[in-house]
Amino acid sequence: MLNIPVVRVFSNADQLTDAAFQIFVESAHLSIRERGRFVTALAGGNTPRMLYEKLPQAVLEWNKMFFFWGDERCVPVSDEGNSYGLVFKAFLSKVGLPAKNILRVETELEPDEAARRYAESLTQFADPPYNWPRFDLTLLGLGNDGHTASLFPGSVVDPQEPVVAVTANYEERPARRVTLTPKVFNSSRKVLFMAAGRSKAVPLRGVLSDLNKMADLPAQRIRPIDGEVIWLVDQEAAGLLNIDSNHYQIRSS
Ligand code: 6PG
Repeated sequence: MLNIPVVRVFSNADQLTDAAFQIFVESAHLSIRERGRFVTALAGGNTPRMLYEKLPQAVLEWNKMFFFWGDERCVPVSDEGNSYGLVFKAFLSKVGLPAKNILRVETELEPDEAARRYAESLTQFADPPYNWPRFDLTLLGLGNDGHTASLFPGSVVDPQEPVVAVTANYEERPARRVTLTPKVFNSSRKVLFMAAGRSKAVPLRGVLSDLNKMADLPAQRIRPIDGEVIWLVDQEAAGLLNIDSNHYQIRSS
């Protein structure tokens, strides 16, 4: 059953980050308690940075936590555009996580080969009937053009594969990428979108209100079959939303 998205609006980035931190920690505790592990897919981009930098403060059973990425830019780990590298510096290197708990995209390979091997690593965590894990928490951002992960406008709406290699030009960011597809994202137990700033107001209204725009607004393709969608946004990003909409629920925070 599709849950309608909950949109929580914050006055500033600190409050938005605190809420994301709380959701992350609570999801991890609940998943470990109920299933003995927490499997998450992290987002790239700038919006989640403050969350990543805050996570070393969390008291968690890190050895029971497994980290994937919703997408990755095919640049060396040392490149500032590499999402794994950003997260490793921000917190993975500081919490004593076993290397086997980090399932990164091997960007030293050609994108197609990296995508194939990433799909294989997903199968090691499969939750039947899926050949991949039902992520306990999937973090996603929203691009100014309505993309999320590396699902860009005009791309195939619902690829059959769990992982695909794509080329997409967005701002000054690396173009060759590997991304999970909606098939995988939509088996998540919980999806947490984070979006901040005036430039996200138009795509956010579109994604949440102009239904059946999945081709042009890829973030709209993320509709978990049996999972919760929460949007954490600031007041600027929420500027065009309608408090009375029946497509989403706004909760001021
Ligand atoms: C990436 C992300 C991408 C990002 C959005 C929003 O690798 O860049 O997967 O989907 O989440 O572009 O980025 P910002 O948070 O920087 O606005």
